[in-house]
Amino acid sequence: MDIDRVGRLIRPGLASMRGYDPVEPIDVLERELGRRIVKLDGNENPYLSSPRARVVLADYPYYHIYPDPLQRNLREALSRYTGFAAQSIVCGNGSDDLIDLVLRLFVREGDEVLNAPPTFGMYPFLVTVCGGQLVDVPRRDGFALDIDGLRRAVTERTRLVFIASPNNPTGDVVTADEIRQLLEMDIVVAVDEAYFEFGSRTVADMVHDYANLFVLRTFSKWAGLAGLRVGYCLCHERLASHLLTIKQPYNVNVAGEAAAIASLEDVEYLLANVERLKRERERLSSGLASFPFLHPYPSEANFVLCRVSEKDTDITVTAARRLRDGLRLRGILVRFYESEGLRDCLRISAGLPKDTDALLNAIGEVWSEL
Ligand SMILES: Cc1ncc(COP(=O)(O)O)c(C=O)c1O
Repeated sequence: MDIDRVGRLIRPGLASMRGYDPVEPIDVLERELGRRIVKLDGNENPYLSSPRARVVLADYPYYHIYPDPLQRNLREALSRYTGFAAQSIVCGNGSDDLIDLVLRLFVREGDEVLNAPPTFGMYPFLVTVCGGQLVDVPRRDGFALDIDGLRRAVTERTRLVFIASPNNPTGDVVTADEIRQLLEMDIVVAVDEAYFEFGSRTVADMVHDYANLFVLRTFSKWAGLAGLRVGYCLCHERLASHLLTIKQPYNVNVAGEAAAIASLEDVEYLLANVERLKRERERLSSGLASFPFLHPYPSEANFVLCRVSEKDTDITVTAARRLRDGLRLRGILVRFYESEGLRDCLRISAGLPKDTDALLNAIGEVWSEL
């Protein structure tokens, strides 16, 4: 069989699919730019992982043994951290894996999944991969969720809605009342709380009252384990048992599992870093707001979304994009989106105080050269 014929066997929805837009690896960029990078584009944790996790990984004796498919030790440790029974917890290869698993559990080819852009790009990506039909209900001006619009968009083919809270990239959190209105629509509601530790609210308690609610979280942000890929989900125990059945048996690897358990024994240390990042987020916000052309949105995550005024009337390339490019040449990475409603915005992660200083100094310089 020649390659063209094999190509024609690829599922139609996947053959022409656009891939996920990832951030570039830091070593590749450092080599390309020939300098130390100030990395404020990936919402990673600049305080690194817990020292306890690093010691455990260095001494771990069982790398040659497969992980526990039932993730017993990690789920027990998470039970102590979250207050949920271990039977209501399932872990994944990052929370991305849980987004994928929840989709696989409920969405058949052609089923509809509601999405509230601008939001996390993994939802459209994974809905497409599983053959679902994405239905966008854009946020209103100022990025508030359009709950009435979401409710009106529900049809008999709707299976699921994704709501990130705090939302990436806007930083706002959903209220319990908004989630209740969606839960009452008889669809599955997946609330993605990847940035939960940086915010003031969670809807996790509602899992006890609503079997159609899944709450997804991760060790990537607060615990600095983005590279080891560990996330978890809180849900009704019967649904947890279905997720455990359909997941890849070894989805969480032994290094991720050991590091996550060690992190849960080092919560005080990690949450002190979260507090540092929350303070830095506020300092970053006020620093950005001190430029007349920048307009940061309030955020409860470890980043700030910032609108950039246009500098002139020719906006074929927005000032936000040119600012991103100018910062990049100075070794400072921030996130720009080539998508509807965001082309005049930059998303900037909270970093170390010296990173904020470098960024704020560079912004003035780059702007004057645009
Ligand atoms: C809203 C949201 N959910 C999930 C993730 C992914 O988390 P993980 O690293 O656990 O896959 C991110 C990462 O940026 C995110 O912003």
